Amino acid sequence: MSSWQRPTSVEYPRVWITFRARDVDSDELVEYRVQDLPGDRVEDAIAHMKTFFLRDEPMCSSVGLYRDPDALDEFAEMWRTVAAQKVAVVCFRAGSDEIVGLNMLTVVSQANAKEYKFKSVGMQTMYDAYVGMLKQANLFEKYAVEDYLSAWGLSVSPRFRGRGIATELLRARIPICRAVGLRVTVTLFSHPGSQIPAAKVGFFDEIVASFKQLAEDGYLFPGVTHELCKLMTMVVE
Ligand SMILES: CC(C)(COP(=O)(O)OP(=O)(O)OC[C@H]1O[C@@H](n2cnc3c(N)ncnc32)[C@H](O)[C@@H]1OP(=O)(O)O)[C@@H](O)C(=O)NCCC(=O)NCCS
Repeated sequence: MSSWQRPTSVEYPRVWITFRARDVDSDELVEYRVQDLPGDRVEDAIAHMKTFFLRDEPMCSSVGLYRDPDALDEFAEMWRTVAAQKVAVVCFRAGSDEIVGLNMLTVVSQANAKEYKFKSVGMQTMYDAYVGMLKQANLFEKYAVEDYLSAWGLSVSPRFRGRGIATELLRARIPICRAVGLRVTVTLFSHPGSQIPAAKVGFFDEIVASFKQLAEDGYLFPGVTHELCKLMTMVVE
């Protein structure tokens, strides 16, 4: 996946952002934190992603990844590889170890960028659509970087949605990029619920594709009701 390694000078696991937002059962404001995903919570994170992300993210849901045994195994393996890079982040509420949200961050390097082949047909369709947009973006050349920060999934637990958690998970990329020495972060945001928070923290549209166009190109995502899927970039100086 990458030749990149987290600098040993950057403490791990480290808290990147703390913020206040509504509690889960009341309107009281409580403290949350976005921190590195600890090694001993990786399997819990994968369980969360299988349960909530594969079911609720529009592209994964459209091609039925949550009920596709190959996709469940291949995604779990991908998330283990991603977590081993030690840049994935988790959100916790103060005083609780329940996973509130996750961003399965990963560093992609030009030196050993490769294209994946999956057994799951649905997962391959999603990946190929993504790679098509990445090729159009030509990121390594455009931004003159060797590595950039990307992600294999942004997810907030259903009972914590709508209180700004995704926005803060995305904002945490700013101190992360600065600390580990990355200037560019790029992610495919598949619907307004993630595109709006991304734009709020500083991402801009890199490549915008309509689901209609993707279908015409052979990437079918039946039942997706919104119009656009966006590859978005943030440059962190
Ligand atoms: C998408 C997701 C991560 C958002 O998490 P969240 O913590 O509720 O997000 P936030 O509260 O930070 O912000 C969401 C923003 O999008 C808006 N929004 C959410 N769903 C929307 C929709 N379907 N259409 C338009 N706007 C929407 C909200 O109003 C909010 O904007 P506002 O703060 O200006 O009101 C969460 O719903 C989720 O985990 N979904 C399933 C997995 C997924 O789709 N991940 C993203 C894939 S790229």
